[in-house]
Amino acid sequence: MNPLLKAQKIGFLGAGNMAQAMIKGLIEGGIPANHIYATNRSEGKLVKLVEQYKINSLPNNEDLIDICDIIILAVKPQDLLTALEPVGRAFDENKIVISVAAGVRMQMLEKFLNGARIARVMPNTPSVIGRGVIGYLLNEDDDDALESTVEDLFEPLGRVIKVSDEDQFEALMISCSSGTGFVFEMMMYWQDWIEEHGFSIEEARVMTIETFVGASLLAAQARENVEDLQARVTSKKGVTAAGLQSMRELEIERALRISFEKAAMRNKEMAREIK
Ligand SMILES: NC(=O)c1ccc[n+]([C@@H]2O[C@H](COP(=O)([O-])OP(=O)(O)OC[C@H]3O[C@@H](n4cnc5c(N)ncnc54)[C@H](OP(=O)(O)O)[C@@H]3O)[C@@H](O)[C@H]2O)c1
Repeated sequence: MNPLLKAQKIGFLGAGNMAQAMIKGLIEGGIPANHIYATNRSEGKLVKLVEQYKINSLPNNEDLIDICDIIILAVKPQDLLTALEPVGRAFDENKIVISVAAGVRMQMLEKFLNGARIARVMPNTPSVIGRGVIGYLLNEDDDDALESTVEDLFEPLGRVIKVSDEDQFEALMISCSSGTGFVFEMMMYWQDWIEEHGFSIEEARVMTIETFVGASLLAAQARENVEDLQARVTSKKGVTAAGLQSMRELEIERALRISFEKAAMRNKEMAREIK
């Protein structure tokens, strides 16, 4: 981690699940706990965080913005603008603001953040175990210092990928964040089918998870692309080939594409609803 980052004061506006995962990752990555600050609407989570990680809690968001160099907006999208409205003027061009709120576009953030340097970041749920995909978009694409700050901050949570516009941001969110949910959907059907063949729930769970993990790790480690790997497990007119042929006849690709597009439409709709 960049030593300069260790000297910065990092504030979390909102101390829920995402903030907690990040705080853990930052401390493990070498950020001193006494450089981390947090606020939260209700007090309980803050008390626990202070106890567990020895970070600082603050009574209000204005103090957080005042004290911290980097402010991470970690409230739910529907709460974000309400949280920012009373404190927006406390930001200035010396502050770095990182928003993890889905659906609140850069243009909207700029309206509330009084000239601050902004990154929109989208971590997916596996980020809480350090295996996430984290996409980010900057309000000034050529801000190299902000780019490396975001990379350093999120690197403990998984693979960090810069995107160049809102369209790409949306595609990354749907394929990796919603995508996690889509993969779970497939895993449920996998497990159901195994259970129907006399395996216990636990056995079916393990067989399903290990098949997904094994295939993913193999794809990650192999030199070949996924198509070639698939060809290697598929002998002509064999068992796997029969299953795959059926998947193609049933147009699984089309079903997936339509689902991705539906998710994208809902994302646009939700962005319009946040006023
Ligand atoms: N969890 C994930 O896997 C994930 C993945 C990608 C993106 N995100 C994004 O991360 C953000 C946070 O999600 P989350 O899952 O961490 O939600 P969460 O657990 O509900 O945390 C949000 C926290 O914000 C607090 N809060 C609300 N209004 C506030 C205000 N005005 N000032 C200070 N704190 C306030 C809430 O306090 P209370 O205790 O009173 O509710 C709550 O603890 C969301 O925008 C979400 O889109 C999350």
